[in-house]
Amino acid sequence: MGRTPDFYTYPGCPIQGVDRDGDFVVIRWADGVTLRAYALWLWENRMADQGIDERTREGKLDPADLPDPSELAEPRLVGGHLLVDWASAPTSEFDSGWLRHVADGRHETSATIPVAELWSATALPEPPSRPGSPVLDGDDAALHEFLELLCRFGIVRLRGLPISDDVVPSIGGRIGALRDTNFGVTWPVSVDIAPTSTANTPLPLPPHTDLPTRETPPGHQILHCKVNTCVGGLCTMADGYAVAAHIEQHYPVDYEALTSLRWTFFNRSPEHDHRWSGPVIDRGAAGEPLTLRAFHPLRAFPDMPDGDVPRAYTAVKRFSEVAGSDEFQMRYWFEPGDLVAFDNRRILHGRSPIDAEGGTRVLHGTYIDHDEIYSRLRVLTRRLEATNPAFNESEAQQ
Ligand SMILES: [Fe+2]
Repeated sequence: MGRTPDFYTYPGCPIQGVDRDGDFVVIRWADGVTLRAYALWLWENRMADQGIDERTREGKLDPADLPDPSELAEPRLVGGHLLVDWASAPTSEFDSGWLRHVADGRHETSATIPVAELWSATALPEPPSRPGSPVLDGDDAALHEFLELLCRFGIVRLRGLPISDDVVPSIGGRIGALRDTNFGVTWPVSVDIAPTSTANTPLPLPPHTDLPTRETPPGHQILHCKVNTCVGGLCTMADGYAVAAHIEQHYPVDYEALTSLRWTFFNRSPEHDHRWSGPVIDRGAAGEPLTLRAFHPLRAFPDMPDGDVPRAYTAVKRFSEVAGSDEFQMRYWFEPGDLVAFDNRRILHGRSPIDAEGGTRVLHGTYIDHDEIYSRLRVLTRRLEATNPAFNESEAQQ
């Protein structure tokens, strides 16, 4: 068979046995793995242009037209694949490899996305680094490794890239759609005469995340260094996941305030008025990525009862002290030709003060959301698994 409700190719995984349990079909493999498939879920996933559109591999049925689950007549096996007879519709065949990938959880959103590894500055004194040219030149394996490191550590650096405004859109474009903001699709970071952001002043930048003024702050940030002859201006990075875990363990009262008390974040550009209210450490729903909203220039108003304000200030002071401590601060020089990508909702980035009279520092940046990174990583994994038999083994060893 081979055609499945998506564009993946699955190795065959013959089913050993099949039974009914009410309106569920219970599918069993020889190694003990089972899958309980509800009758109407199977009905929606029928191929041959019945439940799934052949061209898009998307569901084509209006839920209003779903039959009664008793439409399920009998499940059986042919050649290790599942066949389902229906009361009033043609028999459907379901690919054993596709069913097994569901049973193994490889359809879940977290599948093939590396688990975050928390780090301190001692464990990771500089960003994990790789040569930039292979990624820029379109090497799939190099881009996969770049994205894999980005997901694991929240930060990765490419070195030796050309000094050109084409680098950021080229590498970003290899991943997916860049996220436009009021700063543009790509933007410079340099010391400005009339700055609209603290980033474009010589002021120091304490540990922060960008654009907490948005309902969903940008997922990742890419910065490419074109010129750096400044005195000062070291890059600083801290793993916000590790900072949050440290505060939770050692300062639980502050952690409670940081995760529950809301602030209104507000950008103060003459032409824009973005606002969003949320806690500094936003855990979201269970299983969702933790989002840090940490940028004191934009933290404008307490959005909480008066009685909570004093402990909220105590907590944000604690947060900045921990994030800015030597234990968590990675400090490194931004070399022209370097490109650093980092998770803007996890990594707290900053910069030591720049002596504006002592040189020039010009960066070129963009934002790109988590969705784009994860999608490209999944597609590259699929492609590399299909074309390189050794890829699965090297993945398993990591
Ligand atoms: Fe920033």
